[in-house]
Amino acid sequence: MASQLLLLAFLAISSSIALASDPSSLQDFCVADKASVSVNGFACKDSKLVDANDFFFSGLHLPGNTSNPVGSRVTPVNVVQIPGLNTLGISVVRIDYAPWGTNPPHTHPRATEILTVLEGSLQVGIITSNPENRHITKVLQKGDVFVFPVGLVHYQHNVGNSNAVVLAALSSQNPGAITVANTVFGSKPDIPADVLAKAFQVDSNVVFNLQAKF
Ligand SMILES: *[C@@H]1O[C@H](CO)[C@@H](O)[C@H](O)[C@H]1NC(C)=O
Repeated sequence: MASQLLLLAFLAISSSIALASDPSSLQDFCVADKASVSVNGFACKDSKLVDANDFFFSGLHLPGNTSNPVGSRVTPVNVVQIPGLNTLGISVVRIDYAPWGTNPPHTHPRATEILTVLEGSLQVGIITSNPENRHITKVLQKGDVFVFPVGLVHYQHNVGNSNAVVLAALSSQNPGAITVANTVFGSKPDIPADVLAKAFQVDSNVVFNLQAKF
């Protein structure tokens, strides 16, 4: 009985704690040892072997190549590029947009994103979860900052004749990205066409056309 009460008390306390980022560090740093077995994140490299390059990345001044069908390019700087980000719950990306280029609707399963426009004008949008699916949208100019809450589908679209550039910070060492079109129409193997025909309320031929593009 006492142990059941303890368990209930524990559940009540633990369920009131909301973890809003990667778990906090219990040491100065835990530079990723990428050769190690990955459990949830990476094991720590021997701290005596850590040097400045473990916390360093160079090249974010370089424009990404936007010659692709969507006209945008994300240059990520997360734990893959900077092993010193392991366990720290933060990362950054540069995104380049060709004129009228789009970073298509996608979500980050593990991160909230805060985006700053460095050059150009962008229409951005968030779509809230079911059942409202409200589209919250705004046109941003140079110097404007916008937030995309964790898990919500969002996009950016260059609404100008010049290139646009943003720098965006994300609240995970490894935010992940799920691009809606690619996951739905570009999965390997395909989701059956009749499933997507029902989901999108279109003819299967429309689905085959879309699947052929991804
Ligand atoms: C950009 O990407 C395109 C398409 O992949 C490629 O043809 C082109 O050479 C690339 N440009 C640069 C500067 O790397």
